[in-house]
Amino acid sequence: MLIFFFFLLAVARGAAPIPQRAGDVGWELLTASAPAQIEIFGDFSCDDTAAAWQTIVKPLVERFYNTNALSLIYHVYPLPYHHNSFDAGQSGRVMVDYLRLEEKNNLTSAVVKACDALFLHQTDFMSWQTPDPTENLTQAQVIHTIFADIARSAGVPRNFFLQSMGSGWNMTYFEPTRDAWKYAAARGICATPTFAANGVFDDDLSSWSLDNWTSWVLDANAAA
Ligand SMILES: *[C@@H]1O[C@H](CO)[C@@H](O)[C@H](O)[C@H]1NC(C)=O
Ligand SMILES: *[C@@H]1O[C@H](CO)[C@@H](O)[C@H](O)[C@H]1NC(C)=O
Ligand SMILES: *[C@@H]1O[C@H](CO)[C@@H](O)[C@H](O)[C@H]1NC(C)=O
Ligand SMILES: *[C@@H]1O[C@H](CO)[C@@H](O)[C@H](O)[C@H]1NC(C)=O
Repeated sequence: MLIFFFFLLAVARGAAPIPQRAGDVGWELLTASAPAQIEIFGDFSCDDTAAAWQTIVKPLVERFYNTNALSLIYHVYPLPYHHNSFDAGQSGRVMVDYLRLEEKNNLTSAVVKACDALFLHQTDFMSWQTPDPTENLTQAQVIHTIFADIARSAGVPRNFFLQSMGSGWNMTYFEPTRDAWKYAAARGICATPTFAANGVFDDDLSSWSLDNWTSWVLDANAAA
């Protein structure tokens, strides 16, 4: 019994690697270690995530930029039944890598540009539509014909994008995208968008308005 327990422990411990950098877990925008921290777990093929991005996340970024009041962590969380979401997540990482250098290491700006482009063109790769626009395409074709164009629309050169993405198996991007998924799955996330407020998950958070979030951030700072 004890041996079995240790075996389980070993399997569980091997499930997700210890992250080398905080950014491997999620993109932390605005101010690290601010009194208020909001996490969002989003899927680029999810229309509710796109809506939350436009109506909650981006307005919060604009409202709290340069205030030191908020840490906003965006977690790329591709749901397995949205067939192109994992590659959308890898594409997002490639785009952020490129744009971050262009933007003088401004991660917030790079992530906003990459996410904006992916959410804006979401219906180009959303596999759960009828018809599915990618139903006759291979994974490599989806990368070359759809994601490369989306990256270009955000200012990422086609050559850089394709060299980085390859056919979807460049370990430089595959591993961190997979590991970010593992970290979120280990926290029990099973739907998108899911929100956490200072580390706490609550279903009510998904119905909070921008005003609700703004009040919460201000209150958390007043209480700090
Ligand atoms: C970083 O990007 C954000 C969002 O685009 C912008 O508001 C901010 O001014 C930029 N910061 C710097 C230091 O350039
Ligand atoms: C995929 O191929 C089938 C069979 O040729 C065709 O009927 C269908 O319209 C194609 N789908 C798309 C999205 O082009
Ligand atoms: C993976 O991406 C990096 C960064 O763009 C690139 O330098 C490298 O050549 C790619 N590796 C493979 C095996 O395609
Ligand atoms: C959210 O905002 C609405 C409208 O202002 C308010 O009625 C409600 O009490 C708020 N909810 C929370 C949890 O703050």
